[in-house]
Amino acid sequence: MKILITGGAGFIGSHVIRLFINKYPNYEIVNLDKLTYAGNLENLTDIENASNYKFVKGDIVDKDFVFDLFKQEQFDGVIHLAAESHVDRSISNPTEFIMTNIVGTVNLLNAAREEWKDNMENKIFYHVSTDEVYGSLGDEGFFLEDTPYDPRSPYSASKASSDHLVRAYHHTFKMPVKLSNCSNNYGANQFPEKLLPLMINNIKHSKALPVYGKGDNIRDWLWVNDHARAIDVIYHEGKIGETYNIGGHNEWKNIDLIHLLCNVMDKKLGRPKGESAKLITFVTDRAGHDMRYAIDATKIKNELDWEPSITFEQGLEKTVDWYLENESWLNNITSGDYKTYYVNQYEN
Ligand code: NAD
Ligand code: DAU
Repeated sequence: MKILITGGAGFIGSHVIRLFINKYPNYEIVNLDKLTYAGNLENLTDIENASNYKFVKGDIVDKDFVFDLFKQEQFDGVIHLAAESHVDRSISNPTEFIMTNIVGTVNLLNAAREEWKDNMENKIFYHVSTDEVYGSLGDEGFFLEDTPYDPRSPYSASKASSDHLVRAYHHTFKMPVKLSNCSNNYGANQFPEKLLPLMINNIKHSKALPVYGKGDNIRDWLWVNDHARAIDVIYHEGKIGETYNIGGHNEWKNIDLIHLLCNVMDKKLGRPKGESAKLITFVTDRAGHDMRYAIDATKIKNELDWEPSITFEQGLEKTVDWYLENESWLNNITSGDYKTYYVNQYEN
């Protein structure tokens, strides 16, 4: 079994690669990644010499490169995670998102189709997507697999588009696809532009904690290792043509989450209780900021027996410990070009 995992040097991809390398020693795993600002081979140093692992640097937007790779490697399956993933960046530069998330996905679909057209049996094209395609919830309700799409940022619109294309290839060309739409991930290896690692890094350096708007927005947080477990289960046991929602049953208002994190950080850093929370700074809201995301993950629980393995309190503690223990990872990623790349207009 030879599997292409795209975006494996990124946050979630690195956890998926590690899980597959260790759990399936007989599989050959090829990691295709462009190494954008979000791709970091330091995320994979522990498995980079594994005999069943190969890294290929390349751009999924480059059609000829993608076709050549598929011809050469003869993949049995694809787990597609490569994407531009940060909503704020999609507001300042939407085009990059259209190219990678839509054109890149179509290139992978076309290359798979070309190689698999005579025999699609036992092949899998698995697209990893987001709950943001469903839009924004009010106080009530949850996103289900059949919730109508209503993307509202350039990022979510590009992911919705790629989801539609993946489904269209299934219906039109019988491409054996699977999809999943997951809520907000947190954990080790996340680029510190996303809420939790940004706040951890800023607390550590006693820098302002920029809270968009009033901090009332709600996200449903899932430990990244549990997302990787879900991807494993869906890849192996999910039904062809189906979509699975993945979530943590773990909704937090941003401001409450940041206060919780501040308390954890005060303890870990030996600061007086309340010290880190003094850094909280309310800033202009994100344009088009979705109010609430919440996943109903009943389908994956009932059909594939998956549910989160740890509580949020356990996961948050593990996450904080990881960033504090991996000081060089955090220092490396926030030095050099970080300031240039880091588009958060609110950084002080
Ligand atoms: P990330 O930004 O950390 O990593 C993306 C990876 O893709 C990077 O390694 C980057 O170098 C690579 N990449 C980007 N453009 C590329 C290109 N043109 N060619 C090849 N490689 C390219 O993202 P992430 O948070 O790990 O998200 C991974 C996937 O999961 C994305 O598809 C995202 O939409 C989805 N997702 C993320 C979350 C989340 O909370 N982070 C939740 C649900 C779904
Ligand atoms: O729901 C899944 C999605 O979760 C993924 O598809 C995306 O790839 C991922 O980036 C994430 O999107 P969000 O926009 O929800 O994540 P982010 O970490 O950027 O922000 C989380 C919340 O915190 C959101 O309501 C905005 C707010 N926020 C974020 C930052 C970076 C702040 O208040 N201040 C900040 O500095």
